[in-house]
Amino acid sequence: MQIRELTKNDALEYRTLRLRALKEYPTIFSSSYEVELDWPPARFADRLAETPESTDAFTLGCFANGDLVGSISFFRYEAPKEMHTGRIVAVHVAAEHQGSGYGRAMVAAVLERARRIPGLSTIQLTATTTNERAKSLYASFGFEICGTTPRAMLVEGEYIDEHLMVLKLD
Ligand SMILES: CC(C)(COP(=O)(O)OP(=O)(O)OC[C@H]1O[C@@H](n2cnc3c(N)ncnc32)[C@H](O)[C@@H]1OP(=O)(O)O)[C@@H](O)C(=O)NCCC(=O)NCCS
Repeated sequence: MQIRELTKNDALEYRTLRLRALKEYPTIFSSSYEVELDWPPARFADRLAETPESTDAFTLGCFANGDLVGSISFFRYEAPKEMHTGRIVAVHVAAEHQGSGYGRAMVAAVLERARRIPGLSTIQLTATTTNERAKSLYASFGFEICGTTPRAMLVEGEYIDEHLMVLKLD
């Protein structure tokens, strides 16, 4: 298993994995398969690094036997009063590779890189309230539930609540 930053060269493989995540987990991700399916490939490439080691936004990929099987994204808030905070989003490991430690390795890699970003002291993420696996993974790194958004999503007539989880790096 290898974890590295994804670049625009990875865009097609990233698109395939991302669409799979959205299709297989419609109640976990706030974006939708139907929405991103229509995006031009360049839009996926736009998410991936222009500048390696960017401190504003990056996506790490997890590779098994050369195939992209997981990804995790990070961005830092831009406003001067909020730029001490970053956010982890779009965390996914392909179903057949779950439970092998890849998710844990991806979160560790993002945190290791985030700790090197000058001025960054806080990381946020959200997890749907019923996603026990994700919540216990994040809690094991010290993320704490700071609040709950009732009805954060409405999927096929079902409301889904979401926890905000926060990690203080200092
Ligand atoms: C959540 C997810 C990213 C975790 O990745 P993973 O590779 O399966 O997880 P790991 O094998 O690294 O396990 C990490 C931790 O998850 C937790 N975990 C794993 N399997 C679990 C299970 N069946 N029940 C509860 N917790 C579990 C444990 O805390 C585990 O820690 P450990 O290594 O000390 O046992 C992955 O399962 C996934 O993509 N799920 C679907 C999409 C999703 O939920 N994304 C997160 C959105 S917030």
